[in-house]
Amino acid sequence: MSAELSFHSASSDLDASPAHQRRLAPKDAARFGDHLLRLDAASRRLRFGGAVNEDFIRAYAERVLGSATVIGLFVAGELRGAAELHTLDDAGERAEAAFSLEAPLRGAGLGGAFFANLRRVAERAGVRRLVFQCLAENRAMLAVGRRNGAELRFEGGEAHASLALTPAPVRAPREARATSAAARRGVDRLRGGLQVGEAALG
Ligand SMILES: CC(C)(COP(=O)(O)OP(=O)(O)OC[C@H]1O[C@@H](n2cnc3c(N)ncnc32)[C@H](O)[C@@H]1OP(=O)(O)O)[C@@H](O)C(=O)NCCC(=O)NCCS
Repeated sequence: MSAELSFHSASSDLDASPAHQRRLAPKDAARFGDHLLRLDAASRRLRFGGAVNEDFIRAYAERVLGSATVIGLFVAGELRGAAELHTLDDAGERAEAAFSLEAPLRGAGLGGAFFANLRRVAERAGVRRLVFQCLAENRAMLAVGRRNGAELRFEGGEAHASLALTPAPVRAPREARATSAAARRGVDRLRGGLQVGEAALG
């Protein structure tokens, strides 16, 4: 699936749509932590590069929402995925990405769509170099990187990915939604896919 995802600028979670995305705020720390804690042990290892406990995850969620841009993917009002953008330098030209999707939502193209969305967010923020790190065994994440043209370097069981971006002028989300018929078609496809995932989540 090459789904694109739309952004809802509203900060409310009362949106009745099956799936939507919005930027997370510091007040979302508990639900961000809950989402990360629902990752099983193997997925937590893939996400964090090693075993991490609940205290670590709770503290991580608090800290990250105070410093990074995090896009949350909500399904039926529950946070089921997150795409994080961590600025690495004062100029905001280098940033690191990280992704998490709960297991029932994986393998349907959402990781790729999430990456594409975070890439756009980064470009609008003026980021010129996007990097991510993952375990060398993380085939899904490596596939996402390869598809997006990332240069991959392998070292000590880890992969380091680096991707040059072209900063883009900022457009208001409302305008972007109104003018992007392609994105709308992508959202419709996404919703179809997510209904399958949502059923599995039950
Ligand atoms: C990494 C992650 C976000 C990818 O999301 P996803 O929805 O599973 O990925 P997609 O369905 O979009 O697939 C992306 C690509 O990986 C491939 N892929 C997916 N699962 C795969 C697997 N188990 N083995 C090999 N390739 C796989 C897909 O074929 C696709 O390749 P393509 O773009 O060439 O078609 C998700 O798997 C995840 O949250 N994993 C646990 C946490 C993690 O690893 N985070 C990344 C470290 S920061």
